[in-house]
Amino acid sequence: MSEEHLSEGEIFADTKVLRSAYLPENLPHRKEQIASLKDMLSTTLKRKTPSNILIYGRVGTGKTATVKYVCKQLEETARTCNHPLIYINCELFYTQHRILSYLARFFNKRVPVFGWSTDVFYSELKERIDTGDKYVVVILDEMDKLVTKEDKTLYMLLKINNELNKARVSVIGISNNLSFSELLDQKVKSSFDVKEIVFPAYSAEELKDILTERARIAFNYSALDDGVIPLCVALAAKRNGDAKRALDLLLMSGEIAERNKSKKVREEHVRIASEKMDIGMVELVKTMPLQLKILLSSVLMLCREKSEGYPISGDVYSMYRRLCDHLGEKPLTQRRSADLIAELDSLGLINAVVVNRGRYGVTKEISLNVPEKLLQPFLFADYELKALSNFSVKENK
Ligand SMILES: Nc1ncnc2c1ncn2[C@@H]1O[C@H](COP(=O)(O)OP(=O)(O)OP(=O)(O)O)[C@@H](O)[C@H]1O
Ligand SMILES: [Mg+2]
Repeated sequence: MSEEHLSEGEIFADTKVLRSAYLPENLPHRKEQIASLKDMLSTTLKRKTPSNILIYGRVGTGKTATVKYVCKQLEETARTCNHPLIYINCELFYTQHRILSYLARFFNKRVPVFGWSTDVFYSELKERIDTGDKYVVVILDEMDKLVTKEDKTLYMLLKINNELNKARVSVIGISNNLSFSELLDQKVKSSFDVKEIVFPAYSAEELKDILTERARIAFNYSALDDGVIPLCVALAAKRNGDAKRALDLLLMSGEIAERNKSKKVREEHVRIASEKMDIGMVELVKTMPLQLKILLSSVLMLCREKSEGYPISGDVYSMYRRLCDHLGEKPLTQRRSADLIAELDSLGLINAVVVNRGRYGVTKEISLNVPEKLLQPFLFADYELKALSNFSVKENK
């Protein structure tokens, strides 16, 4: 038995099963996506035409899990044929320079980490890849972390094949931005044979299957009250069917039950866990710079006012300027505010979904990801924002 097993108590049999690093043996409700991806990748590995794949789906829809699952299944084939599958998380490697240096080092450990220009890394990479009849698969997870910064990495990796004689590169790009596809140039998509796989959000029923299967291994028999999984599911389904949130909630509920010396996890533990998760998020506000707080206040006010639909980034910026005016603060430029919106999004406080509004162009629809009731007192208690508590959205227009 592993140490981890020995340390588990009455509630848990194996907590690591609920953690995000764990790759389940089974991925319910992703059969179709697994099959398409496996099919496309094995075609590539069998040295037929390499295809490029773009994977879209909202947060927690199993994109990373599915790609890792398929890679694991094909690992053996890839190794025996000497076709590397390279996984890169763009949240960590967020510039073209970093990705190129990582790739160059993948093929030649003697490449220095620093000091070379992007062009030098690129030539080194080309030279190293093109030594034989190789098919290199580069997986760019969280790819939107790059493209929003107008990064050209994706195009560069798609185009590299034009400059290779023997080897071939295939790209799998993963994005949690549903409109990502629309942002890519149609010409690029057709000339590079880019196929797409969509990961729809999980329904409550699907989330229930996922949680039940994980809970079976993670918890001791009968350690969960009947209402626990349905409540975790209901709370996560409200947040766009995010499986990660549902699993985090289940883990935290179990930890709370354990700390309270309860023999079972009960619904009350789930409620406490859910509130704790929200408070944890809201507490991020405390250490945020003032401009970010003002921007978040603008989102809060707009969401409170709007009875349907979501405010878009332009609305948020106008409101932000009004709030700055009210507070006597100098507003940032619209461009800089777009960076801050992306920052609030990656902190998980808001959801910013890119949409294409036809002739109005590409913009972002913004929604709050934490309950208004929890966020408002927290924000306005801040002495720098006190003056906002008497701000009226309508009167001051
Ligand atoms: N079909 C599934 N079966 C079992 N577990 C799943 C399934 N889908 C997702 N999960 C689990 O839910 C969590 C979130 O999944 P994953 O990280 O793959 O989502 P994602 O789509 O990559 O999200 P993000 O956009 O935030 O990167 C992981 O712990 C994963 O193991
Ligand atoms: Mg992911």
